[in-house]
Amino acid sequence: MARKLIKYSLMIPGPTPIPTRVLSAMNHDMIGHRGPLFSAVMKEVMEGLRWAYETKNDIFIYPSSGTGGMEVAVVNMFSPQDKVIVLNIGNFGARFVKICKAYGVEVNDVKFERGKPADPKVLEAELKKGPVKAVLMQQNETSTGVLNDVEALAKTVRANQPEALIIVDAVSGMMAAPLKTDEWDLDVVVSGSQKAFMVPPGVSAVSISKRAWKAYENSKCSKHYWDLGLMKEEAPKGHTYTTPPESLIFGMREGLAMLKEEGKENVYARHQHNRDLVRAACRALGLNLLADDSHASPAVTAIFAPDGLDGEKIRAMMRDEFNVEVAPGQSELKGKIFRIGHLGYIDSLDIIGAFAALEVLLKRMGAKTNFGAGVKAAMELL
Ligand SMILES: Cc1ncc(COP(=O)(O)O)c(C=O)c1O
Repeated sequence: MARKLIKYSLMIPGPTPIPTRVLSAMNHDMIGHRGPLFSAVMKEVMEGLRWAYETKNDIFIYPSSGTGGMEVAVVNMFSPQDKVIVLNIGNFGARFVKICKAYGVEVNDVKFERGKPADPKVLEAELKKGPVKAVLMQQNETSTGVLNDVEALAKTVRANQPEALIIVDAVSGMMAAPLKTDEWDLDVVVSGSQKAFMVPPGVSAVSISKRAWKAYENSKCSKHYWDLGLMKEEAPKGHTYTTPPESLIFGMREGLAMLKEEGKENVYARHQHNRDLVRAACRALGLNLLADDSHASPAVTAIFAPDGLDGEKIRAMMRDEFNVEVAPGQSELKGKIFRIGHLGYIDSLDIIGAFAALEVLLKRMGAKTNFGAGVKAAMELL
């Protein structure tokens, strides 16, 4: 009799699986979004986000994906012809470049080899060339599985150009790895609901420092939907300028409550452990990793397909044969790598299950791997 799969396993770096508690919380009647009931929920979510961001700064919630949050940062901070540095370590750095260019901002696109983090020494050399309005970077580059050292990069900016804005895309890094917005003096930080917050896509959150508010006053980029000033008027009342995505806000409240119950340090430790399991399993199978241990992402791991095998084929077989969804390589890495997401509502046994599937497929495809070694290496770390 044919074997029929009934369980789906989502192992991509966002959207991530949603806990039943969050799904149930979202199953809520709509309520007046200008009334006291919703206002209380919104204020709770904003407080929860301040806890996650480690900040006392203003935080605004936009009905948008993470890219919308990146655009909020650009259009509210800059004017056409402003000069900025983008630390481009992958696809999402390249996205910051595109957004800036779309608004006439002059970009020094500082590219790093794929799989490597941004080097503070390179940044320092660029900052010494002349004043810039801002430095933009990713906390975690999802396309390569690399975690930037945001603290060191921020220190480099402050040491060389104390008043330059530091803008961080923390969409896939927030809550997967520590990010101390106030301690590291970060001016604009962007996150998205669909990653470690364990909520469906559709909400982005953006924090704004005092320095960033000053830049906002001088910014001449065209804007309306993304205009922070419109949000600022509404936020103290627990409102948003437009109609908020209520279901997602209920979900955010529950996701944040779950993270608080787990405890921040435990959340970070879980993500690190997930990363370590994946890397141990890959090494035991002789699979090469794109990022070195020193800057390996706790959210996602980019893995080279074994010689002669296509990463896309492995990915398709994982989905077709085992209902395990992993992510493709992007841009120049397409076909060469595949990526296993291990952020959000993902635990050790999900990873071991995914490797069991991968090992069976690699064996069927004739790869010279030591069958069972990956799962065993991961189990030994439990
Ligand atoms: C680091 C990073 N930045 C930005 C984005 C863009 O987010 P979205 O696809 O929600 O627009 C993503 C999405 O994966 C991301 O991982």
